[in-house]
Amino acid sequence: MMNRAVRPGRAVGSLEIPGSRSLTNRALVTAALATGRSILRGPLDAEDTSAMRACLRSLGVTIDDGDPNAWSVQGSGGRLSAPTGRLEVGASGTTARFVTALGVLVPGAVVIDGSERMRKRPITDLVDALVALGAEIEMLGDGAGPPLRVGGRQPAGRSITINAMKSSQYVSAVALIAPLLAGDTMITFFDEVLVSRPYVEMTIDVMTRFGADIELRPGPELYVHGATGYSGTDFAIEPDFSAAVYPAAAAAITGGDVRIQGLSEQSRQADRMFFDVLEEMGCGVDWMKGGVQVHGPERLRPVRRDMSSAPDAALMLAVVCAFADGESTISSVGNLRIKESDRLMALEAQLATIGITATTTADSISVEGGRPRGGEIETYDDHRIAMSFAVAGLVAPGMTILDSECVAKTWPGFFDALDAITADATRVSDPMGVIIALDGPGGSGKTTVSRAVGERLNLPHLDTGAFYRAATLVAVEAGIDPDDSPAIIDEVKRHEYGYRGGRMMVDERDVSAEVRTDPVTRAASPVSAIPEVRRIMVAAQRDWVMAHGGSAVVEGRDIGTVVFPDADLKVYLTARRDIRAQRRASEHGRTDIGRVAGDLERRDSIDSTRKDSPLTAAEDALILDTSDLTIEQVVDLIVTEAQQRKHR
Ligand code: DC
Repeated sequence: MMNRAVRPGRAVGSLEIPGSRSLTNRALVTAALATGRSILRGPLDAEDTSAMRACLRSLGVTIDDGDPNAWSVQGSGGRLSAPTGRLEVGASGTTARFVTALGVLVPGAVVIDGSERMRKRPITDLVDALVALGAEIEMLGDGAGPPLRVGGRQPAGRSITINAMKSSQYVSAVALIAPLLAGDTMITFFDEVLVSRPYVEMTIDVMTRFGADIELRPGPELYVHGATGYSGTDFAIEPDFSAAVYPAAAAAITGGDVRIQGLSEQSRQADRMFFDVLEEMGCGVDWMKGGVQVHGPERLRPVRRDMSSAPDAALMLAVVCAFADGESTISSVGNLRIKESDRLMALEAQLATIGITATTTADSISVEGGRPRGGEIETYDDHRIAMSFAVAGLVAPGMTILDSECVAKTWPGFFDALDAITADATRVSDPMGVIIALDGPGGSGKTTVSRAVGERLNLPHLDTGAFYRAATLVAVEAGIDPDDSPAIIDEVKRHEYGYRGGRMMVDERDVSAEVRTDPVTRAASPVSAIPEVRRIMVAAQRDWVMAHGGSAVVEGRDIGTVVFPDADLKVYLTARRDIRAQRRASEHGRTDIGRVAGDLERRDSIDSTRKDSPLTAAEDALILDTSDLTIEQVVDLIVTEAQQRKHR
């Protein structure tokens, strides 16, 4: 039993999250039943999926999970074999439900058991559905859950009604085996209620990808064609939105800025809606090619939300609401009481531990926002309670998560990921790295000087102006009006930005020359004044520095003030206007110095008067007027200063 103290800090940076638990366990089942081999890419390796793999292996399926990024499953074509012992599902709900359904395909008896908590989680509605199809199932315990024995009588597809008020997993479980049954299966629902509907839609998606013929008709009514089986396929598993809610919430409550890689706005995962709720609470949520970026506001607004379709995310949401200005209500989440813990009870009790008043009803929770304090958090062996309160600990000092290892159920690396995005309370960059920030107006000599400083100190050099120019280029190329900020933001999000070997890249295209053209240069100042554009570019710039070991010479306009406010050395370069115009003119081989000076002045004025991150010297910056200095002199001054600071 390991207790874990959470270190407070603002969440900043970018991270990858594991594959979706729900998709991994569904795809494992369809791949196991398919004819031929399947490859599951980007799967989740955690307790819940390891329980599923172990059960499938006991049923005679060969799974090679040696490559963490691509598991290979040799499909059984539906011919599962009877296991020698009990199948242990542990604490995994999907495994318990799906494997119970798989049991009816096995010639011979299958006994299924689980953890203490699993024995209390009801499974009778699934058992009733399978019995209605003709299966033979005996409950062996004294509760409504496992242990249970599934007999060897093969059912056939027919019309049945499932009670899907408690869990959609009963429906998914029956649907998953239906293509292997003789005859079509038609499922209707008691009182036409189907909870957590997006999860059934996810099951349908996965089944369809593996060649099944299934549709969810209005009613609702689920129709699965029998005797089609599945075909092995190459299946890419999306990152887990249910995991993504934690770093997103970390950004929301700390006023941070977190980028989560690989998430798509179009995903059908249920917890995708958490991001809409964060937006409603006042967060900036930017969907981009390659991921989503969440920006926490100064104050969070309270919300009222029906979370019946995304109950997993409801836990983190309740804890985020503890930080909002006022009372929030999360409704239609009665089934939280029968998950890994009685989650409504657990939330109410642990919110009280951190000084927050919450009141629950049979199926809702209201949270009075305030100033949560730290405390010892009881986790009830529930990974989502542990992760939600750990995130709260980033703001509330003194938070300890008891028995924190329960996070391994769905995200073994959770605490490392949390540490990585909050490396230090104030420091955005790696504490071991060396960052030199060089800011200043156009023509002050920034680029030449910072390249030379980088070479002298053996540090990589990053020209952040190239990022704003690249953002401008994509907007110019798309023919967008320079005043149409919403369209510019949309276009900017459609691309990925990189900087390699001094070359500016957009979606793997080298645009170093294109970004230097006149139309781009002219439009760059207004484009870089758009706050959303800056948010995206700042995150890309920080990512770049992190990917280069946390050390770099970074030049721009807001490096010392915004991008790396904790830089080891900040320099603000400036020069008299006539000198800067002369430098620019000779750089571009122009003789019309008057016009060059005019252009420069216009751009400087936009850069220094914009609301977001205006060009200005950081308070602790070394201000260097380069008008009467040679490049070598400037470089010497900076290198000497950097070396002296290192020895201080
Ligand atoms: O340094 P440069 O001329 O390549 O910069 C291009 C534009 O980007 C310029 O208008 C200022 C803007 N910029 C910015 O707003 N913030 C930065 N950190 C760097 C450049």
